[in-house]
Amino acid sequence: MDAQRGFSLDELETTGDVLIPADPLGRVVGQEEGVRLARIAATQRRHFLLVGPPGTGKSMIAQALSLHLPPPEEEIRVVHNPENPERPMVEVRRREAVIEEVAEMKGAEGELIDPKDVPINVAERLGYRCVHCGHYSPPSEAVCPKCTQAKGAVQNVGNPFGDLLAGIFEATIGQLSGKDRVTTTRKQFGKEEVVVFERAGDLIKVMDQKALEKRREMEKVSPRKVLVPLDRNPFILATGASETELLGDVKHDPYGGHPQLGTEPYERVVAGAIHEAHGGVLFIDELPQLGPLQRHILTAMQEKRFPLSGRNPQSAGASVRVDGVPCDFILVGACNIQDLPYILSPLRSRIVGSGYEVLVETTMPDNEANRAKMAQFVAQEIAMDGRIPPATREAVVAIIEESRRRARDLDKAEDSLTLRLREMGGLIRSAGDIAVMEGIELIEVDHIKRAVKVARTAEEQIKDRYGSYEGGMGADMTRAQRSVSPYHYWNYHDPADEGRYIG
Ligand SMILES: Nc1ncnc2c1ncn2[C@@H]1O[C@H](COP(=O)(O)OP(=O)(O)O)[C@@H](O)[C@H]1O
Ligand SMILES: [Mg+2]
Repeated sequence: MDAQRGFSLDELETTGDVLIPADPLGRVVGQEEGVRLARIAATQRRHFLLVGPPGTGKSMIAQALSLHLPPPEEEIRVVHNPENPERPMVEVRRREAVIEEVAEMKGAEGELIDPKDVPINVAERLGYRCVHCGHYSPPSEAVCPKCTQAKGAVQNVGNPFGDLLAGIFEATIGQLSGKDRVTTTRKQFGKEEVVVFERAGDLIKVMDQKALEKRREMEKVSPRKVLVPLDRNPFILATGASETELLGDVKHDPYGGHPQLGTEPYERVVAGAIHEAHGGVLFIDELPQLGPLQRHILTAMQEKRFPLSGRNPQSAGASVRVDGVPCDFILVGACNIQDLPYILSPLRSRIVGSGYEVLVETTMPDNEANRAKMAQFVAQEIAMDGRIPPATREAVVAIIEESRRRARDLDKAEDSLTLRLREMGGLIRSAGDIAVMEGIELIEVDHIKRAVKVARTAEEQIKDRYGSYEGGMGADMTRAQRSVSPYHYWNYHDPADEGRYIG
């Protein structure tokens, strides 16, 4: 049964009958306008701001939007700059080029073969074949597991100090057989060519002339590091990110500048969330809480590039900078209504000017179409949880009744269903847990009713027990405590007006 086409709950036996849409945006219930705008934002690459209370699907819409984007097309790398190591350069490669390079690398990697397939003397020199018995074993074992003699070709017979030297020789064998590369020649089509054999764990890597040339060529190009790989998540969550997480950094190097111990500056560059979101979505929940960092987000949005530099002035990374690192993302921000004024105003006008804003719904009318959507929601929550059984039709009806009650209590909406669905999800899970604990294979009405009792907030429980929230406060606090508790003030309209609380 497909809620998008509509159905009557009478047709439903359990939530197992309800289709869960494959389209991630199709799973968002009751936010038609938000979903419509998210589709446009994805197709047209527009910024997007979702405003509304928690648990109504803002994060869900943001993530679903990112899944509607084509996969990222560009890989970002930093390249060592031999003229000025503290100014590494950025390199951007398109998908096709990256794939081509990977194929080329394969060519330069040589072929892996069984040690038994290489010439005997090569297998011995690389430490795979025992010179005494011809048994093959990995080069990490210096002593042949078959004849228990040292594998290497070291002979100490005839040496007058053989007995004394044995220990020393055995120690050197490790090094002799520690040779991990042997160069020989072979005749191919009447021509002599160089072949290199290299240890590669249990196998041996063979590189012919062609592979060797490739490798030499590749070693000539500057060393580089992939900052933002091609295969990445198109959804980057930057909620509550610190400056370095958001904008990137250059790590400190305690051995900075030391030619052997130090690491090159380009190796210490790390991408920020804004760069990782290149080609995808940068999602910032509670956007106003970023405070002054919002200004950098704005710059990044305008320029679509943002330099990477060391953000700690005491660190050796502070002198390193990579200019022009791409960060072409779709900003999806979320915030609640009260915090809207604290979004940096030029950032806000940027979103309005080249994107969309939506105030999410907190309720939807109670009608047949929306009841079917609630059934879809219940089915989704159960499927996502994975540990609880399907719900019966009667249980779904009970959940709908509870969502009617909540629409009335929380949003003063009559004949409506709540869309504060995070908490409804919690209710479904507790009901499911009760069913599981009792060994019952379906979530039934009774489980829902009991879960409703359990799921009540602490405030509701206080109201029940003491008649009112204020009564509970009075019972729990002496007058003296009231005037010192720091938490106390949050419950006041006016701290000077002692004794009146917001319930
Ligand atoms: N509109 C909705 N449709 C379907 N499920 C929802 C919806 N809103 C919330 N949920 C459920 O609640 C969870 C939390 O919602 P979320 O998107 O994080 O809310 P918000 O970001 O608005 O606080 C979701 O993962 C989903 O299980
Ligand atoms: Mg959220």
